[in-house]
Amino acid sequence: MSSETKVAIITGGGAGIGKACALRFAREGFGVVIADISAEDGQRTRELIQSEGGQAIFLGGDVSQEADCQAWAQAALDTWGGIDVLVANAGVQTPGHLFEASDEDWERTIGVNLKGVALSCKTVLPAMIEQGSGALVLISSVNALLGVGGGRMLIYDASKAGVLALTRSLAIAHGQDGIRVNSICPGVTVTEFHEQRAAERGQTPEELRAGLKGHALLGKPAEPHQIASAVYFMASEDASHITGQYLVVDGGLTVMSHPL
Ligand SMILES: NC(=O)c1ccc[n+]([C@@H]2O[C@H](COP(=O)([O-])OP(=O)(O)OC[C@H]3O[C@@H](n4cnc5c(N)ncnc54)[C@H](O)[C@@H]3O)[C@@H](O)[C@H]2O)c1
Repeated sequence: MSSETKVAIITGGGAGIGKACALRFAREGFGVVIADISAEDGQRTRELIQSEGGQAIFLGGDVSQEADCQAWAQAALDTWGGIDVLVANAGVQTPGHLFEASDEDWERTIGVNLKGVALSCKTVLPAMIEQGSGALVLISSVNALLGVGGGRMLIYDASKAGVLALTRSLAIAHGQDGIRVNSICPGVTVTEFHEQRAAERGQTPEELRAGLKGHALLGKPAEPHQIASAVYFMASEDASHITGQYLVVDGGLTVMSHPL
C-alpha cells in the first residue's frame, strides 16, 4: 500500500466499463483518478462518486498523448501520494474493411487502444517501482481471440491482440518489481453508448436487451458492473499470485463452437 488511501487511475473512467470500474474502486475505498477525454462524462462520474461519499478527481486528456498520461499520474501522486492500480480502459472502435481503413483510422485506433495503453502504463510504472508494488489491469476484448464481424473490425482486433502482448511483456519486465500485469477480455457489454444508439433507433434499453436475449452461453450480454468485478478481482490481493494472464468475461461466448 502506497499511502493511507489506495489509489486507482481509470482511463476512460467517464463512461461505460470505465465508469463502472471507477464506481467499484471508489466503493472499495480507493481514491480514484478519472482520466477521460470527455469532460462532461468525467465530471458526471466524479460527481456520482462524491455523492456516494467516495473520493475521486477528474482530469481531462487524451491517452494517446504521453504528457496527458503523465499529468494523470502526477495528479494521483499529488492528491494521495501513490498509485496502486491502473485500469487501462480507454478505447475506441473503428469499423471497416482493410480497403476502407484510412491512415487516420489506423493512427487513432492504434494510438488510443495500443499506444495509449502502453503510455498510461509507462507513466504509472516509476511510482509503482519505487513503492515496490502495483497492479496494471489492461482492457482487451474477445476480439483479440476470435474472428468476429466478418473481418470488419480488423484495426480494433489487432489493437486488442496487441494489448495481450503488452500484458505479457510488461508482466515479464516488472514481476521482480512487485508489479502484476493482467488483462480482461470482455465480450459484448451493454453500456450507455449502446443504450443511446438504441434510443436513436427508437428502442428502449429493455428492448435493446431483449434483442440480445440468447447471447452466449448465459443467454445475455454483460452489464458494465460485471466487467468491473473482474477488473477489481485482478487488481486485488485475491489475485496476488496472478500475472501475465488474461481473464475472459464473455458469458461463455468464446467456448461456443459457432458463437456468431
Ligand atoms: N462494451 C463492449 O461491448 C466492450 C467489449 C470488449 C471490450 N471493450 C473495451 O472496453 C473498454 C471500454 O469500452 P466501453 O464500451 O465502456 O466504451 P465507451 O465508449 O462507453 O467508453 C469509453 C470511454 O473512454 C473515453 N475515451 C475515448 N477515447 C479516449 C482517449 N483518447 N483518451 C481518454 N479517454 C478516452 C471516452 O470518452 C469514454 O468515456 C474499451 O477499451 C473497449 O474496447 C468493450
